[in-house]
Amino acid sequence: MISATISKMTARRSSTFYNDVMDGLRAENKYLPSKYFYDETGDRLFQQIMACPEYYPTRCEMDILQHQSARMASIFTTYSSSFDLIELGPGDATKSWFLLRELQKKHADFTYYPIDISANVIDWLENRLPVTLPGIKMQGLNGDFMDKMQQVKTFSSNPKIVLFMGANIGNMTPLQATQFCRQLHDNMQPGDLLLIGFDLKKHPRTILDAYNDRQGITRAFNLNLLTRINRELDADFNTDLFEHYPVYDPSSGACKSYLISTAKQEVHIGDKTISFRENEHIWMEISQKYTLDETDNMSAASGFEPIQVFHDTKNWFADVLWQRLP
Ligand code: AVJ
Repeated sequence: MISATISKMTARRSSTFYNDVMDGLRAENKYLPSKYFYDETGDRLFQQIMACPEYYPTRCEMDILQHQSARMASIFTTYSSSFDLIELGPGDATKSWFLLRELQKKHADFTYYPIDISANVIDWLENRLPVTLPGIKMQGLNGDFMDKMQQVKTFSSNPKIVLFMGANIGNMTPLQATQFCRQLHDNMQPGDLLLIGFDLKKHPRTILDAYNDRQGITRAFNLNLLTRINRELDADFNTDLFEHYPVYDPSSGACKSYLISTAKQEVHIGDKTISFRENEHIWMEISQKYTLDETDNMSAASGFEPIQVFHDTKNWFADVLWQRLP
């Protein structure tokens, strides 16, 4: 019993989650990685965010997929009659579902490889998609994007089409995003296609409102990471003493969420203590917005050529299609 408790504590303190949290909270400017938002509660809160009237990105990209999947599918099948379709971070695939269905209608010969860090997401897709898309050839992969992309390369030498939708690239800084695309490039062959969802610059208030919904769901989404740290890393954050503070800078396109400590306080994480000054901030998330000139520059900087842009009717969101250069 005691040894079980000790080994649990040791496992906790050597976990990547623990190390990432401690690195972030010991930094001069405190931060926490937003990839840890998505525990069970975080997944549910994100679903609720997507249903908020202020949160437009999901509806915009849905508009694109609903109305332009047929056009995307013809470009894909013209590129190659058989290919591997890899999707990074598919979620419940409600958006890519339209594309998958169009590809089936066109009798495209493809295998769908959804890759996600959540085992639940992969299990759910493997159970669900064969029901709603009968005959689909698919294999879900649970793990790190780059590791799993390398694994797919060992399955077949087919041309690859990679999907990275949902504006997930927005959670990286522009520099990180360029480096990430360069890594994708290194895992693809010349001529392979990459479809990325970018949220575009628009009226600053429209953007800020999307991260500051009136029901307070985005606020709860941010605070939930403190609750997760309390539960999983044996900490004692008082979420009443942190305030949700989102900002959007129209010139850089960076939308950032902070939590502000409303008091001077000490927080314990296991046997470690973290001190907060009154009004000290924790940077929680970036949701970067782009112009199409900026995404064009990113494609060039990472070894791709832009070949097509799919817009929603409001021009608020773009799924850009890039081709890997030789
Ligand atoms: C899942 C990264 C696209 O940044 O817009 C929503 C996450 N954060 N509201 C985004 C999020 C706060 C979302 N992405």
